[in-house]
Amino acid sequence: MTPLDGRVALVTGASRGIGGATAEALRRAGARVVRVARSLSPAEGFVDLPADLTDPRQVEALADRVRRELGSPDIVVSNAGGFLLRPLEETTVADFDAQVDLNLRTAFTLARAFLPILRAAGQGCYVTIGSVADHVGFPENAAYAASKYGLRGLHETLLAEYQGTGVRLTLVSPGATDTAIWNSVDPDHREGLPRRADMLRPADVADAVLFVATRPPHVLIDWLRLGPA
Ligand SMILES: NC(=O)c1ccc[n+]([C@@H]2O[C@H](COP(=O)([O-])OP(=O)(O)OC[C@H]3O[C@@H](n4cnc5c(N)ncnc54)[C@H](OP(=O)(O)O)[C@@H]3O)[C@@H](O)[C@H]2O)c1
Repeated sequence: MTPLDGRVALVTGASRGIGGATAEALRRAGARVVRVARSLSPAEGFVDLPADLTDPRQVEALADRVRRELGSPDIVVSNAGGFLLRPLEETTVADFDAQVDLNLRTAFTLARAFLPILRAAGQGCYVTIGSVADHVGFPENAAYAASKYGLRGLHETLLAEYQGTGVRLTLVSPGATDTAIWNSVDPDHREGLPRRADMLRPADVADAVLFVATRPPHVLIDWLRLGPA
């Protein structure tokens, strides 16, 4: 018997990185895992529902399909996102809008589509992947940090709004994690950035999500921060 036997989990941004590792950890723990991303390589043991989450109609269609075919998910991990490291004076309005769209607006539309389903079921674990940049300012991080601080505001508001419904919301805020999100930055060759070998591994963040998802229903973890030692 594994701890999540019979549970349904949905993970966005599950094609690689933190979302990929989280989907795998939840699957290994016994959950039936729905993977969501734009591009998903075939893998055994998952239900794959490709979607571009920046399109609210696709998010609504996704939630509708999951509810009809699998019922209310026990676990939702809102993880899909992107990263921009760019000085303010080189960050265009379009860059800013794209970060807010991908990291914040998609989290809003996902929450708006899925939280009513969880509320109606009277239970569920809803995990948002924030970042160390949702509570610490770093140079060249204006657009990313604005999106992630906004995400923390969204999380804290929904935490209060859904209190007492049986739906438990958690913000997981990882520090630097060695994934493809860093590829365009090449941190090993730039001053002031963590080396890839010193970063968290995607599996470390997945373990944190698994810990949250396996607490009994009377335990709420509202915020879990983790980073490289
Ligand atoms: N890596 C870090 O250092 C770090 C630290 C703190 C927080 N985080 C956060 O962790 C989350 C995952 O990051 P990661 O490092 O694992 O990045 P990653 O390896 O680049 O993965 C990003 C995921 O998001 C998906 N995605 C991107 N745009 C999408 C869209 N429009 N619709 C649906 N899915 C989309 C990607 O899939 P497709 O391209 O196939 O759509 C991919 O699965 C992000 O929210 C990030 O901000 C990362």
